[in-house]
Amino acid sequence: MTSLHVVILAAGQGSRMKSAMPKVLHRIAGKPMLHHVIDTARTLGAEGIHGVIGHGADQVKAITPADGVQWALQEQQLGTGHAVAQALPALPDDARVLILYGDVPLTRPETLEALVSQVSEDSLGLLTVTLDNPDGYGRILRNEAGQVTSIVEQKDATEAQKTVTEVNTGILAVSARHLKDWLPQLSNSNAQGEYYLTDIIAIAADRGVGIAVAQPGNEYEVQGVNNRLQLAELERWYQRQEAGRLMTEGATLADPGRVDVRGNLSVGQDVLIDINVVFEGNVSLANDVSIGPNCVIRDATIGRGTHIEANSIVDGAVIGSGAQVGPFARLRPGTKLADSTKVGNFVETKKAEVGEGSKINHLSYVGDATLGRNVNVGAGTITCNYDGVNKYRTVMGDGVFVGSNTALVAPVSLADNVTIGAGSTITRDVGTGELAVARGRQRNINNWERPVKKD
Ligand code: UD1
Ligand code: CA
Repeated sequence: MTSLHVVILAAGQGSRMKSAMPKVLHRIAGKPMLHHVIDTARTLGAEGIHGVIGHGADQVKAITPADGVQWALQEQQLGTGHAVAQALPALPDDARVLILYGDVPLTRPETLEALVSQVSEDSLGLLTVTLDNPDGYGRILRNEAGQVTSIVEQKDATEAQKTVTEVNTGILAVSARHLKDWLPQLSNSNAQGEYYLTDIIAIAADRGVGIAVAQPGNEYEVQGVNNRLQLAELERWYQRQEAGRLMTEGATLADPGRVDVRGNLSVGQDVLIDINVVFEGNVSLANDVSIGPNCVIRDATIGRGTHIEANSIVDGAVIGSGAQVGPFARLRPGTKLADSTKVGNFVETKKAEVGEGSKINHLSYVGDATLGRNVNVGAGTITCNYDGVNKYRTVMGDGVFVGSNTALVAPVSLADNVTIGAGSTITRDVGTGELAVARGRQRNINNWERPVKKD
């Protein structure tokens, strides 16, 4: 048996979420729970991933990238055994099958690998956990020799069985051949009138198939989400883990409880992250980067020693080393800041390439623009890139100096070492070394008599 197939149960309604959205689409760290599980299956090298869906099936399919996931529709939720049976026809006979749940998002691959490695014609792997309060879970029953003999659901359990604290996580790994043999044998004559997947354990024990039990390193790994409280608990656990990882990798966090990573964040050494920073998408911070408080950093690459000051938003930007951004800056997608650049407060950039050593220090909008090296953009400069229909570029050569409160009406190009007088509205290209002034000329009027108040 070589190939691994993962079946993910995700057909339930999740009514306790009180949501129009299927439960498995609720997010942990910005990603739908189901996608966490799919990604885990990929990490395990699954050859097939089978999602069993029912409630909100169309929504689930619409939001899940189709590549590599096969869907099985469970029209009526007749129990976990019935759910797995819907995926059976798609499972090769010689596959090892791992059963996961769309609402149990954070199981570690290592934990599951240990389970999968147990699967053969003679044995299966079962993930259990021992809880202080086992209420609601299926209980693991063992014989005098300590071998697992069956699982009894809470609602079917005797008082004595309810005292057992080792419970079923629901996660198990078993050969497809066995599933195909055993699932059709399930009956629904039990307290809930459901086809219980858990009943295959008694069948396995009966047939002399060994039941190898593994336990997760942490309870949260097998914690399912039934309501928004549990969703928030898992979110916090996830974030604590991420914070721990960042610190291990050399970042100082002002408060490990006040940084949120919703995506993939990589950090170099001596990175400083102040409080209330949210990272989204793919972000990489080189050595000695610092991020001030209350920043949102999304899909960005930030070079060595660059400082992002408080309250800045960096989105879809590539920033070189030794740059300074913010406070209160907003870099939008397509922004490329070279080394030693400065983008200051209340500056917005979009599709802007800014050359080495250039500065846009205050109150400006620079969009669809290319700036050379050592350009100085004065306060209140606006690239007028949009005529209401089309967008146009503004180009500046090296050493350009733009006076404050300038409107650059694109398309327009300023050659090297151009100077623009403050308050100009520039509509025509300016040649190398030229000064352009485009504003009303100042008149000074002598002996000006101020108006006086009429009686
Ligand atoms: C199940 C286990 C129980 C275990 C517990 C762990 C069974 C019979 N019981 O109980 O031993 O301790 O999980 O949380 O398996 N689902 C479907 N289709 C169905 C039924 C369920 O897709 O027809 C999905 C649900 O969406 C859910 C998961 O399977 O994600 C578990 O189903 P649920 O009914 O919640 O099982 P439990 O009663 O919690
Ligand atoms: Ca449940």
